[in-house]
Amino acid sequence: MSIDYSEKIPNNVDLAGDRKLQRALESWQPNFLNWWKTMGPAVPTEDVYLRTAVAVGREGWAHFDHVAMEEYRWGVFLAERNADRRIAFGEQKGEPVWQQVPGEYRADLQRLIVIQGDTEPASVEQQRRLGETAPSLYDLRNLFQVNVEEGRHLWAMVYLLHAFFGRNGRDEAEALLQRNSGDLDSPRILGAFNEETPDWLSFFMFTYFTDRDGKYQLGTLKESAFDPLSRTCEFMLKEESHHMFVGTTGVDRVVTRAAELTREFDSEDIAPHGGIPLDVIQKYINFHYSVSLDLFGSEQSTNAANYFTAGLKGRWQEERRKDDHVLTENAAHIDLIRDGVLTQDEVPALLALNSDLRTEYIADCENGLKRWNRVLENAGLDRRLYLPHLGFNRGVGLFSDHHVTPKGDIVGPDVWEAHKDRWLPTEADKTHVRSLMKPVYEPGKIASWIAPPTKGINDKPFEYEYVHFS
Ligand SMILES: [Fe+2]
Ligand SMILES: [Fe+2]
Repeated sequence: MSIDYSEKIPNNVDLAGDRKLQRALESWQPNFLNWWKTMGPAVPTEDVYLRTAVAVGREGWAHFDHVAMEEYRWGVFLAERNADRRIAFGEQKGEPVWQQVPGEYRADLQRLIVIQGDTEPASVEQQRRLGETAPSLYDLRNLFQVNVEEGRHLWAMVYLLHAFFGRNGRDEAEALLQRNSGDLDSPRILGAFNEETPDWLSFFMFTYFTDRDGKYQLGTLKESAFDPLSRTCEFMLKEESHHMFVGTTGVDRVVTRAAELTREFDSEDIAPHGGIPLDVIQKYINFHYSVSLDLFGSEQSTNAANYFTAGLKGRWQEERRKDDHVLTENAAHIDLIRDGVLTQDEVPALLALNSDLRTEYIADCENGLKRWNRVLENAGLDRRLYLPHLGFNRGVGLFSDHHVTPKGDIVGPDVWEAHKDRWLPTEADKTHVRSLMKPVYEPGKIASWIAPPTKGINDKPFEYEYVHFS
C-alpha cells in the first residue's frame, strides 16, 4: 500500500475516490500552510534534510532528502488494515471493529480526537523559536523533523474529523488552527502545551518526558474499536519513536558533556566553564517529569472507565494483558496520601485506568535514567540522576493538595517553600541555561554545553550539512 505523491495531499486512503472529502481537505490545506508560516519554525531556511513518509509497510517507509520545509509533503497515512481485526476489550470484546463511528459514541470519539489533535500543533508552536539557538546543524535538523511530523499528526487527526464527523468535525478542524499555545484568549486544551519551550535542555526534556506521554496516549487509541483511529495512531507511533530518540540522546549528550567538565575541573560547579551542572539537569528532570505525570489526569476516572467499556480507548498493549479485558470484576491499587502518610487504596480496576497507563509510562521513563546514570558511572562520577517521587510537584490528581519532596517525604508548605529552589529550576538556573543557547551553525561544530552525537542521521556523518539557510 504505497502513497500517492502525485496528489495534492499525499495519502493512502483513496482520497481521489471521495471527491467531497478531498475538496474539504484541500480547502483546509491553505489554512494549515498559513498556520505553519505564522506559527511554525521562526528561522528561515532554504532546505532541510528531512524524512518523509512514503509507505506504511514494514519494509522501509521513509525517504530522506533535502526539502524546503513549506513544501514538505504532509499527508494522510494509515497503517495497513487487518480485515479480521476484532475489538480486544470492553463490553463488545470479540466483535468486529468499526469502520464507521457508531452514533452513540460520536461525541466521545470526536472529543478524544480533538484533544489528541490539539497537542500536535501546540508543540510546534512551543518550539517555534528554538531554531534560533540550536547547538548544531544536526540538532536543528532534528528539531525541524519533529516539527514537520507533529504537523503531519495534525493532518492525521484532521483527516478523521473531516472523514467521519461531518459538519462538527470540520468546525473542530478549523478550531485546531485557531487555538494557539499560550494564547490568553484561546489557549491549547492541555496545560503543559501552553508552556513555552524556552531552551534546548527543555526541548530534550520535553521530547523525552512529554512526547512520551503522547506515545502512551496514542498507544491507548491504537487499541480503539474505531479502526481508522487505531490505524492512524499505529502509524503515528512509528514517527513518534524518532521524537523519543531525540529526547533520550539529547539528554545523554548534555549529561556526557556535564560529566566531562565535572571531571576536567574536579567540581560540579561547571557553570563558569560553559556547562550545565548535573544538579540543574536533575531539577529539569524533576520539573518535566512531574508536569508530564499531570497529563495522565486523575488517578480515578469514570470517563476513562466508560471509554474502556465502550471500546473507544484501551490499555497500553491491551492484547498482551493477561486478564479478561473487561475488568468488571478486577481490582487495582492506587497511590495516595491519607492522614499524612503514603498509602494505597484498592479500587475497581476500571476506575484506575489513568493510573494504570501512568504506571506503564513511569517504567518506560526509568530506562532513560539508567542510560544517563551509565554515562555518569563510566565517567567515574558518584552522582546519580533519578526520577522524583510520584507525588512531587503535582498539579493534578490525589497528590495535588500535598507537598512531597523528590525523595517522597511529605512536608508542610513552610518546608516546601524553604527547599523548592533545590528541587526545581530557579530563575538563576534558567538564566544560566538560556545564556548558553547560542546558535552553532557551522557543519561539524557543536556548542560547549553538549557532546556531539555518536552518529548522524540516515548514515550521514555528524559533519553533514543537514540544513541550508536562505
Ligand atoms: Fe505527535
Ligand atoms: Fe512527537
